[in-house]
Amino acid sequence: MSADIIDGKAFAAKLRGRVGEAAGAFAEAAGRPAGLAVVLVGEDPASAVYVRSKGKATVAAGMASFEHRLPADTDQATLEALVDQLNADPAVDGILVQLPLPRHLDADAVLLRIDPDKDVDGFHPVNAGRLASGLPGFVPCTPLGCLMLLRDRLGDLSGLEAVVIGRSNIVGKPMAALLTADSATVTLAHSRTRDLPGHVGRADIVVAAVGRPNFVRGEWLKPGATVIDVGINRVEGGLVGDVDFASAVEVAGAITPVPGGVGPMTIAVLLRNTLVAAHRRAG
Ligand code: GUN
Repeated sequence: MSADIIDGKAFAAKLRGRVGEAAGAFAEAAGRPAGLAVVLVGEDPASAVYVRSKGKATVAAGMASFEHRLPADTDQATLEALVDQLNADPAVDGILVQLPLPRHLDADAVLLRIDPDKDVDGFHPVNAGRLASGLPGFVPCTPLGCLMLLRDRLGDLSGLEAVVIGRSNIVGKPMAALLTADSATVTLAHSRTRDLPGHVGRADIVVAAVGRPNFVRGEWLKPGATVIDVGINRVEGGLVGDVDFASAVEVAGAITPVPGGVGPMTIAVLLRNTLVAAHRRAG
C-alpha cells in the first residue's frame, strides 16, 4: 500500500486565495492595505530567496510589503533602531526579522524588541507564553501550517498519539503546544530521546523537524500513520526531508512530500497572521 500524498502546495494556494479576498475587504474598510515589513541582514542566499518570495506573496495577496535589506556588518543598535521604527509605523501590521542573523548579532534581543502585537512570526516570548497558556496571540507559521494540514486530513485530533521530533522554538515546541491544545497525546522527542523508533511506532501523527536528511525510517512507523515532514535538506541531487520518503510512503497512511508539502504553508500562514494583526490593530 502506498500512502496518500498531502498536497501542501494546493492547500496553501487555497489559503492564500482566501487571505487575498479578506485582505481586499480589509483595505476597502480601513482605507489602507495590511502591511508586512521583512528585515534581512546580510546576504545568506537561502534567506534572500525566502525574503523575495515572502515579498512577492504579500503583494500578490493585496497587502503592502516593506523590505529592509541591511549589510552583513550592521550593528545591534542599528538593527534595533529599525525595529523600533517599524513598531511605531502605523502602515506596518507585521514585522518579520529573517533568521538566522549574522553571528555577531543577538537574535533573542532583536526578537524581544518586536512589538508582540506585530510579531507575525510568533517568536516573541510573550507570544510563546500566550500559546503555552492557551491565550490568543501569534503562532509560528510553520507549525500552524502543519496543524492545518493535520486537521484537514484527520478532522478531530483528540486522543490521537502524536510524536514531534525536534524541540526548536520555531517548530518543535510550538507544534507540541498546538497538538496538546487540540487534545492529542504528545511526545516531544529530541536528540537525547531513548528508543526513538519505539516512540514513533506508537504514533498516529509524526511531525519531523530535526534538520537531518532522511532521518525517520519507514520501518519505524505505525502502519497508517499521518507523517508531516518539516525538513528541507539540500543534498546532492536536490531537496529531501527529514523523513525517508521512499520507505515511509509504503507504511504511512498519508505523508507530506518535500518539496510541495509543509514549505508552501509557511508563507500562506504568514499572510494570514499579517491580516489577523491588521484586524486586531484596527480594533
Ligand atoms: N528562517 C527560516 N524560517 C523562518 C521563519 O519562518 N521566520 C523567520 N523570521 N526566519 C526564518
